[in-house]
Amino acid sequence: MILQTESVTKRFGGLLALDTVSLSVEQGEIFGLIGPNGAGKTTLLNVIAGIYEPTAGIVKFKDKQITGLNSETICRKGIARTFQICQPFPKMTALENVLVAAVFGNRKAIADPQAWAEELLEFVKFAMPRDTLARNLNTVQLKRLDLARALASNPELLLLDEIAAGLTPGELLELMDLVRKIREERNVTIVLVEHVMKVIMGICDRVAVLHYGQKIAEGTYVEVAKDKKVIDAYLGEKYLL
Ligand SMILES: Nc1ncnc2c1ncn2[C@@H]1O[C@H](COP(=O)(O)OP(=O)(O)O)[C@@H](O)[C@H]1O
Ligand SMILES: [Mg+2]
Repeated sequence: MILQTESVTKRFGGLLALDTVSLSVEQGEIFGLIGPNGAGKTTLLNVIAGIYEPTAGIVKFKDKQITGLNSETICRKGIARTFQICQPFPKMTALENVLVAAVFGNRKAIADPQAWAEELLEFVKFAMPRDTLARNLNTVQLKRLDLARALASNPELLLLDEIAAGLTPGELLELMDLVRKIREERNVTIVLVEHVMKVIMGICDRVAVLHYGQKIAEGTYVEVAKDKKVIDAYLGEKYLL
């Protein structure tokens, strides 16, 4: 197992955002997290990435506890993430945005950060000139930049938060290919939060369903899509298989 959460609980004041969530993700998997808005999906990524400390429970990465470590330490251990709303430095160029992550977030010293950043922009098929200011990028190029930035720290585990939102069907297929390529060519395990079921069906090996902070189902998409609890809470009839 590359990642395990054991009874992870997160409270925000009176709100129970995560309620004893236990998950195991295997090395090399693409693991999907689905559920209605407010179910706790982003909060779970934030707890894994060290942005929030869990109120209770344990997070293990490669069989070692990382619970409560700060996000910078966790990044250096090999976990990277993207955000539901991409957050590049708007006044920096695309290349500079990746360079910052390559230099400051990296686990290993990079001999030639510039070449490394260029290689990653190439890998994610970033289609704009490298000196384009981040604030001038469209949705799909911002997502590619954000993926290059996340990969710049050389992660073993990548957490993706709703990267498919706002894309056209063609862009969606390209992005799914890219996520597969990140797993296959860079040996990165992926946990992704996603509302677009086409992505979940198309690339996830296994899926967990969150509802009001609780894990209500886990398995292949085909298994969870047949689960009465999942249909009632989230998928409805239209995704019945
Ligand atoms: N920093 C925060 N402070 C207070 N409440 C929060 C915070 N972050 C998330 N929440 C609440 O926790 C619940 C889960 O949110 P979130 O993890 O963002 O859900 P999802 O990503 O599944 O839509 C929601 O009710 C949300 O309002
Ligand atoms: Mg969210």
